[in-house]
Amino acid sequence: MAITRLTIRHSIYAVVICMGLLSFTEFLHATPQPVDPSEILNEYEILRKQLEVSKNDVAVLNSLGILYARADRINDAILIWKHAMAIDPRYIHLYNNLGSALKSLGKTEEAFLIYKTGLAVSPSHLIHYNLALLHLDLGQHIEGVRSLQQCLALQPDFEPAVRKLRDLGHYFPQTTIPLNGNIKTYSMGYKPPVETGNLGLMPIFPGTNESSPAYGGRENSGLPRIKPGKEISIGEENPISISECINLIERFDVESESRLVALTFDDGPHPTLTTRLLDYLRTENIPATFFVLGSRAETYPHIIARISDEGHEIGNHTWNHKSLTRLSAESALAELHKTDDLITMLTGKSCKLVRPPYGHTNSSTQQLISSQGWHHIMWDADSRDWQLKDSHRIVRRVMKEFFPGCIILFHDIHSGALQSLPTLVPALKKCGYRFVTISQLAQMLNIAG
Ligand code: NI
Repeated sequence: MAITRLTIRHSIYAVVICMGLLSFTEFLHATPQPVDPSEILNEYEILRKQLEVSKNDVAVLNSLGILYARADRINDAILIWKHAMAIDPRYIHLYNNLGSALKSLGKTEEAFLIYKTGLAVSPSHLIHYNLALLHLDLGQHIEGVRSLQQCLALQPDFEPAVRKLRDLGHYFPQTTIPLNGNIKTYSMGYKPPVETGNLGLMPIFPGTNESSPAYGGRENSGLPRIKPGKEISIGEENPISISECINLIERFDVESESRLVALTFDDGPHPTLTTRLLDYLRTENIPATFFVLGSRAETYPHIIARISDEGHEIGNHTWNHKSLTRLSAESALAELHKTDDLITMLTGKSCKLVRPPYGHTNSSTQQLISSQGWHHIMWDADSRDWQLKDSHRIVRRVMKEFFPGCIILFHDIHSGALQSLPTLVPALKKCGYRFVTISQLAQMLNIAG
C-alpha cells in the first residue's frame, strides 16, 4: 500500500495511517470488537507530542483524525481532516477519510464532492472504492459498478472491489484473483468506536472549535481549493474572461492524460441551434455527444446524419422526453427502443448510451437500461442553460461544478451553449484539456465492459 510522504521518522504512525485508508468506511459495518481505550489514549499521546514538534504535519493530523473517529468523535475527526486538507490539499488519504466520515453522518452530497475532488487531485483506487460503496448505498447500481471497475483498473487485485463486483454479478477481466477459489477474509484492521465515547481527547490545534466547515456543500462553497493559494471565487454575475476561466480550470493540478472533458447536448436536434452548434464544433475541431429525442430526430433526420458524419456520438434521450421513473417498464422500453431503432436507421450505428429525461432515475430505471446492453449516462456539471440566460452565468455555473474528466450538460434547444462555449472551449484548450465523446471518456478512464 503506497503511503505518500511517509518517512522512517513516521513509521510509528504507518499502521494507523494504513488502517485509516479503507477501514473507516468498513468498520461501521464490521462486527464490533472489544477495544482497549488505553490503547487509543497511548496513541493519542504519541501523536500529540509529535504535533508539538511540528504542528502542520499532515500525516500526523490524518492519524489523529483516525483516532478521534475510533473514539466515536466523528465531528472532531472531520474538523481535523479539514484542517489538514487546508494545509496540504494533495494528501490523498484525507479525501478517503473525510468522505467516509461525511457519509457516515448522512452528508452524501458533501461526501461525493470530497471523493471527486480527491480523484481530481490524484487517481486512487481507494477513493474509487469508497465512491462505489457510496453509490451502492444510494441504490446507484450502474455508477457503483463503474467506480468498482475504475478501482480495479488502477489496482486489479484489490480484493474488496473484486468481491463486491462479483457479488453484484460482474467480473473484471484483468484481475488475477480466482473468483471461485478461496478468497481470504480481508482484514480491515480498524477498531470500532469505543463505547464510552469521550476519552478526554481535548482539542489541541486550531480549527477544532470552528463550527463552519471548511468544505461545505456544493451550493455554499463551490469546489474546494486544490492548489494552495489558488483561491476561487465563483458565483458573481459580472462577465467572466477566458483568462479568469483558465485560472479556475488550472486550480486542478492533474497529469496531462487526465485532462479530459466531455461536452453533451440534450433534447435536440433543433433546426437552427443544433446546426450552428455543429458549425462551431467543426471550427474548433472538437467532438461532443448529443442525447437526442426520437420525435425530434424523426423531424430533422438530416441533422442526425450530420451529427454522426462529423464524428460526434449520439445518445438516446427517449422519444418524447417522458420521465422514465413514471412509466411502466414496458412503456419506458418502448420509448427507448423506438428512438434507438430510428437512430440506427439514420446513422447505421446502434446507440448504446441512454440519458434519462430530467435526470429522473432510480435503480429500476438503471437496471432496465443495462438489461438492454445500454449504458446509463448522467452528468457532472450542469450548465443550467435552460434557466440561466447570460453566458457568463452559464460559464460560472459550469466552472463551479467542473473537475477533470467531467461530463458537462448543455441543451442544444437553447442558445446558452453557443454563447458560453466561446469562453469555455478556448480556456479548456489552453489548459491542455482534450474534448472527448462519452464512449471515448469511458475508454480512457479504463472502464471495462
Ligand atoms: Ni432532456
